[in-house]
Amino acid sequence: MPAIIAASLLSADFAALGRDIAAVERGGAGLLHVDVMDGHFVPNLSMGPPVVSAIRRVAHVPLDVHLMLDNPDPFVRPFVDAGASRITVHVEVLPHLHRTLQFIRSCGVKAGVALNPSTPVGWLEEIAGDVDQVLVMSVNPGFGGQTFIARSESKIRAVRALLDAAGNDAPVSVDGGVDHSNAARIVAAGATILVAGNAIFAGGAPERATRELCDLVKGAPR
Ligand code: DX5
Ligand code: ZN
Repeated sequence: MPAIIAASLLSADFAALGRDIAAVERGGAGLLHVDVMDGHFVPNLSMGPPVVSAIRRVAHVPLDVHLMLDNPDPFVRPFVDAGASRITVHVEVLPHLHRTLQFIRSCGVKAGVALNPSTPVGWLEEIAGDVDQVLVMSVNPGFGGQTFIARSESKIRAVRALLDAAGNDAPVSVDGGVDHSNAARIVAAGATILVAGNAIFAGGAPERATRELCDLVKGAPR
């Protein structure tokens, strides 16, 4: 899979989401990343299924929904019905992770798992064959605009190796602090989905910033 950019709408202008979505799509974003927060698992609140269905009505690329929730299971179906194509849950909150992943897949969407910066890669060992995507958090989740944690680069390599050993070619996704300075290195480490919010929206030119990031990841050595 060629590396793609997932534009994180958390940093978009919520009063002009349609405009910002059109801009990142023109810039070449392959996914729209939607951050859902509950104020418990992470110290922030964001959006729910009605916003996702509004996004779905104007979007042309798939929606990659990242559930930062203590209790994600009851929300899987509502987000699928709202138009998610990929749903990612955090390993830290799920004692029955295998069941949750099966349930997500049974809803007809891709099942992803996310690891916080302090969560060991080994937590994936028993389910490495059962995931459609692994999201490596390269910041502590909850807010956009944080700095990429340098150690994440070796974590990406370790996750890629674990998936390869399980014979699973599912993509590794990286979320947090991705920008023009580190995108190529992140791809070289083995990630093929790069989530970016601040780097796309903070400069006020989301189409151009997305295009530049896309060009960087396309040209990056693997
Ligand atoms: C953080 C979210 C991220 C965030 C990334 O909790 O999961 O998706 O929006 O934003 P940047 O690219 O600004 O770090
Ligand atoms: Zn996210």
